[in-house]
Amino acid sequence: MWAPEGPSLVQDHLGPEPVMIPAPVTAAFNEQLNREMYSSYFYLALSAYGESLGLRGIAKWFMVKHQEELTHAMKFYRYLVGQEATVVLREIAAPPARFGGVVDAFEQTLAHERQVTRSIHGLVDVAREHRDHASDIFLHWFVTEQIEEEAVVSDILSRLRLVGDGGEGLYLMDKELEQMAAANATTGAA
Ligand code: FEO
Repeated sequence: MWAPEGPSLVQDHLGPEPVMIPAPVTAAFNEQLNREMYSSYFYLALSAYGESLGLRGIAKWFMVKHQEELTHAMKFYRYLVGQEATVVLREIAAPPARFGGVVDAFEQTLAHERQVTRSIHGLVDVAREHRDHASDIFLHWFVTEQIEEEAVVSDILSRLRLVGDGGEGLYLMDKELEQMAAANATTGAA
């Protein structure tokens, strides 16, 4: 009589064991979930700063960033849940409440995004070190996203440096950022 190969008929009935993501990858992904929540909080603080200066376009641009970072956090959350890994939520650090002008706000944004890029690349290293192919592929979207985010912020910053922290140039930049925010809110990009 033919019998299937494998550990037991009971196991065959249940199906193969799920491929769990390794514990160090789970820990690193939970840390990244927290970083994305901090990013969201950081951009909310910057949106409030734009409001305080009466720069509606900049406030809206950072509000779109705030929402976009929440979606990044939720991508990690959904991935962990889908992989049957434990989600560990921690305190979210307080972002700064004051900034030294619009140029400084975007300089801090670029520095922050570069830090996020480094942490995403670190996650890829952890996934590869543990031969976790699913997590490695999941992270590709974030690697590409960071290239785009840094390029957009860098472009805005170089023009803001020319314009400075006041005057008609800043008014025009604010209008442009308002249009970008409206377009990005529609497409879901920022
Ligand atoms: Fe979620 Fe802007 O990186």
